[in-house]
Amino acid sequence: SAAEKGGHEYFMLKEIEEQPEALANTLRGHFESGRIILDEQRISDQDLRDVDKVFVVACGSAYHSGLVAKYAIEHWTRLPVEVELASEFRYRDPVLDRDTLVVAVSQSGETADTLEAVRHAREQKARVLAVCNTNGAQIPRESDAVLYTHAGPEIGVASTKAFLAQIAANYLVGLALAQARGTKYPDEVAREFAELEAMPAAVQKVLSTVEQVRDLGRRIADSKAILFLGRHVGFPVALEGALKLKELAYMHAEGFAAGELKHGPIALIEDGLPVVVVMPSPKGRAVLHSKLVSNISEIQARGARTIVIAEEGDETVRPFADELIEVPAVPTLLQPLVSTVPLQVLAAEIARARGYDVDKPRNLAKSVTVE
Ligand code: G6P
Repeated sequence: SAAEKGGHEYFMLKEIEEQPEALANTLRGHFESGRIILDEQRISDQDLRDVDKVFVVACGSAYHSGLVAKYAIEHWTRLPVEVELASEFRYRDPVLDRDTLVVAVSQSGETADTLEAVRHAREQKARVLAVCNTNGAQIPRESDAVLYTHAGPEIGVASTKAFLAQIAANYLVGLALAQARGTKYPDEVAREFAELEAMPAAVQKVLSTVEQVRDLGRRIADSKAILFLGRHVGFPVALEGALKLKELAYMHAEGFAAGELKHGPIALIEDGLPVVVVMPSPKGRAVLHSKLVSNISEIQARGARTIVIAEEGDETVRPFADELIEVPAVPTLLQPLVSTVPLQVLAAEIARARGYDVDKPRNLAKSVTVE
């Protein structure tokens, strides 16, 4: 009913609007007496300290949350992090031993491929840490440590609030490792946590763009395809934006690393093709920012309709943006938490405008429990 959907036409929009709360609930209680704490830890502090390599394994949007987290975990811990689709990981003899930490990310905790990846990792003596949104699900039950996301039940098949919560939880895992390894001083861990704690308010601010983005969605709903470009942490955001559109609007959509533009994607640009560009902060990543500005001017010159997600006050990008969606300034590593939100709204609204069921897209299941 409309009441269940919080007055919205579809659950997904309600869940998009619940994201500030999902983030706040996921962070709550994880920084006590100056330390990051997990929910369950059946692995010793010494073993956590001895970790020398990290894998993140997951499927779908959860996999994208891992791609985002890689930037932060490597930066904070100086550990190599590989992010892999669970369905690939377990069939390729990955190099695992007792000093490997495998982070299994799953909203449901029941995804068959992720569960089998967990089992494979444990057979090889790796330690497994689950990031999960469902209390007592199979994946956390079979893991050595657990960090629960508290996004609440997610009804929409396409993940939204669980995805943002996964990014935050993965970051907590990174901080827990940095703290165990001493690669960050306690005051630095505290500062990173405080920055995470400021994110619910930042996401709340992005929600003020919802009507602008819905209107844009209606205007581009009959496009044949949409491309997404991003760099650094904006690259996995581009992948997630494209996945959302495929899932919901049944449109051809692809996410690209903007630096690869000249190695293929630019050949796809034609008159009127919408291209969504996720901009880095002009202050935080000035070099990447200027490279992306030149990418946008190139695609615009070739006829693309540029839709630019940029930090508020970023004037340099304005001349090249046919549509400008402004997000608040946040630290670079946290940017995906704000820049993903307009892409979720865009996909949902395009799907609705095309007459599809936003909450129950065809052929898809909320949790894929068979391989
Ligand atoms: C399905 C859902 C996606 C989700 C993926 C992984 O494909 O439609 O939204 O990202 O499964 O699910 P999990 O429960 O493991 O996070």
